[in-house]
Amino acid sequence: MEVGPRDGLQNEPGQVSVEARVELIDRLGAAGLSVIEAGSFVSPKWVPQMAASDEVYKAIRKREGVSYPVLVPNMRGLESAQRAGAEEIAIFAAASETFTRKNINATIDESLTRYTDVVRAALDKGLKIRGYVSCALGCPYEGEIAPDSVAAVAGKLYGMGCYEISLGDTIGVGTPLKTGAMIRAVSRQVPIERMAAHFHDTYGQGLANVLAVLQEGISIVDSSVSGLGGCPYAKGATGNLATEDLLYMLDGMGIETGVDLDKLLDAGRYICDHLGRRPVSRVGLARST
Ligand code: HMG
Ligand code: MG
Repeated sequence: MEVGPRDGLQNEPGQVSVEARVELIDRLGAAGLSVIEAGSFVSPKWVPQMAASDEVYKAIRKREGVSYPVLVPNMRGLESAQRAGAEEIAIFAAASETFTRKNINATIDESLTRYTDVVRAALDKGLKIRGYVSCALGCPYEGEIAPDSVAAVAGKLYGMGCYEISLGDTIGVGTPLKTGAMIRAVSRQVPIERMAAHFHDTYGQGLANVLAVLQEGISIVDSSVSGLGGCPYAKGATGNLATEDLLYMLDGMGIETGVDLDKLLDAGRYICDHLGRRPVSRVGLARST
């Protein structure tokens, strides 16, 4: 799943215009990505970069067969997302108490109670719901996180009715063997075909970790065009694994994704030019010379 327009832009120092966010999403759709996270209906006081996600959502040229999930932290977010016309939402919990407090101002139990109501209301309206578990391989505040703690939160989100659980290495500290062990622990609570993996690439372990989760049987991987991204409440976390690099690896392994690398590179160049940054994907760099 492509998370660039949300995870990629939520940590930018400046405000990115609605027009540029829409253009990025439309280019990613044109490149063949079938799930594109389009924004967040969170408090603009907490994450100002995601303000106006309703305008972004409404302006996207929706493509047949493409879904555009949006992050929702509470009932208020769900109502705003629905008003904008969203058909899929993502709720986001974490396996660390401290991170949960810093990120959404709640304990893990409070967050799960809140999400139970959100999921029930969203299912009633026929929405699809994805669930995230952050800090699946480490926490910026608590350090090591036990795989069983990740599994417990993942199992609860799945039990509520999330169709997919994305396991987030929020600060990009995981390594392949640890990643495999965490996935095996979660697979006791969530079927492997309902799991996704979400790697930030802070320590350059993203692709190695993807290989580890593919070997465990996961086939959904989150990534961000040009490796943009970070979480405002996870200091030091760099961008997500770059979609260009992920695609290059999957192509090389003969795994069909339906994504066109040249068009993806074009989307990456567009947003990097707009932000005044050099692309950080290795494939983008290799193809720019
Ligand atoms: P709070 O301060 O406890 O909540 O925040 P509150 O109910 O007291 O509300 C505070 C203010 O926000 C109020 O405004 C509310 O109306 C408003 P005021 O009365 O002061 O003017 N508000 C809202 N406004 C718009 N939309 C809403 C909404 N809710 C309240 N939905 C809250 C609690 C959850 C709202 C806050 O902590 C928050 O918005 N947090 C979001 C943090 C966030 O977006 N983090 C990044 C995403 S997570 C991530 O990146 C990890 C991931 O990528 C996976 C990985 O890498 O691991 C997913
Ligand atoms: Mg993330």
